[in-house]
Amino acid sequence: MHAQGVAEWAWWIGLLLGAVPLLALAVWHCNDAAHCAAFALRRRRRGARLPPGHMGLPFVGESLALLWHFKLARRPDGFIDAKRRRYDGEGVGVYRTHLFGSPTVLVCSPAANKFVLHSSSQDGAAFGIRWPAPELVGFSCVVNVDGAQHARLRGFILAAINRPSSLRAVAEAVQPRVVAALRAWADKGTITAATEIKKVTFENICKMFVSMDPSPLTEMIDGWFAGLVAGFRAFPLDLPGTAYRHARACRRKLDAVFRDELQRRKETTPLDLNVDGDLMSGLMQMEEEQGEKLSDDEVVDNIVSLVVAGYESTSNAIMWAAYHLAKSPHALRKLRVRTLLFLPFGMEENAAIGRDKNGGFITLDDIPGMKYTAKVVEETIRVANVAPMVHRVAHKDIEYRGYTIPKGWRVVVWLRSLHTDANYYDDPLSFNPDRWDKPPKPGTYQVFGGGPRICAGNMLARLQLTIMLHHLAVGYKWELLNPDAKVTYLPHSKPVDGAAMSFIKLNSE
Ligand code: HEM
Repeated sequence: MHAQGVAEWAWWIGLLLGAVPLLALAVWHCNDAAHCAAFALRRRRRGARLPPGHMGLPFVGESLALLWHFKLARRPDGFIDAKRRRYDGEGVGVYRTHLFGSPTVLVCSPAANKFVLHSSSQDGAAFGIRWPAPELVGFSCVVNVDGAQHARLRGFILAAINRPSSLRAVAEAVQPRVVAALRAWADKGTITAATEIKKVTFENICKMFVSMDPSPLTEMIDGWFAGLVAGFRAFPLDLPGTAYRHARACRRKLDAVFRDELQRRKETTPLDLNVDGDLMSGLMQMEEEQGEKLSDDEVVDNIVSLVVAGYESTSNAIMWAAYHLAKSPHALRKLRVRTLLFLPFGMEENAAIGRDKNGGFITLDDIPGMKYTAKVVEETIRVANVAPMVHRVAHKDIEYRGYTIPKGWRVVVWLRSLHTDANYYDDPLSFNPDRWDKPPKPGTYQVFGGGPRICAGNMLARLQLTIMLHHLAVGYKWELLNPDAKVTYLPHSKPVDGAAMSFIKLNSE
């Protein structure tokens, strides 16, 4: 009886170890074959073929493999590297897959990325924009519209953010807060950089965008933005208790606050609206050639979308700058000390600027001279890969180097794979600002995307990083408490301890 029981167990274990994987493999192959057959049947054209790759298992596709690489293996590029090794004899850099419920084409070579990014946004363009839950940021915001509407809104936003007068005003507005924050961190002695940097970045965003100083209201606004952003990553199920419903409620509250602010500004005399002031005034005042202004909906939707686009991305990049500099004393020293080679008298690049003028603040005019700081900024954004991928949808069947990207499929442009590719950057995972002595190979640096949708806030992001690096370098030293802490990659890349560090004012011992 006992022997029979053991045999039964052995049979079940054998089945589990042998038949189940075999069955899964068969389903895996059949699913891919079924997608290819459906594709071929719908296009009776001879020779039409899907990009190489695999559609994975029914329903889940390859989502679990992607999550495995991001969450468990902590090698986010492993997913795409495996595809390259397996399918990319021709080096085309496009692969079919199925991710999070959608048949998808992944794109990951300089030429293929350019092909997609540059054929987006114009009227009749091959690729359109597709972000999850567009209602959460608003249908009339720049990231959710295509064609002429996009060009019009983008023009307004670029004019409001990127004008030298706006950047000059930003440089002035944010520095007192940065300086005060750094002092407060030094008073604490140890900080969690991710948390503190987010806080000061948000305070600066409130100042730059709507001239709000920290208050209980801005704290609530911060919480509502956190709820809103969580909604993009959640299943869009509008039921009590879901993250999506909470995100919608947060959006309504943000809407109310910004609409009140807009109304208040309209009721004050127009002369009080300072064109060179904050972003909201900029958007309210901009006028097209035909004399048409942005509607209230457009102003509010775009303020919300700009905070969403600029908040986590910038604070994450600043955190990575502090993290990498803590691990690269050589780079930090160079950031502080400008060698005899560059400045006479061994003056310091950052210390030389603004020590005795403007109360220690830098101005927009100082920035072109901050050559090494600029290299640290670019290297940080390259290694951090703050925006690892961008999303599009194919509006029609699109041919690319002998393959068809089918109409309706999602297209994911995997920007980060360029920045971590040893063919384009020597020792790509190491932080080395000096690599920027030479420009990168054409098309291999796409941290801000490319084409008609290239990041509208890239100058603003660079400016904020430069300001933070300047004040960190001249006044403080810091050390990671857990330099070997693991890194998480979802929803954003950061060390698991949030980059906990000791933080000390220079010359304070
Ligand atoms: C290090 C910081 C940042 C990174 C890495 C980054 C990255 C990107 C990328 C890759 C795109 C392209 C999206 C696409 O092609 O669909 C983008 C778009 C955009 N970004 Fe940024 N961004 C950063 C900071 C900012 C800031 C500070 C703002 C403004 C406050 C901003 C506003 C925008 C806007 C409005 C778009 C959409 C442009 C359009 O669709 O025409 N970003 N960003």
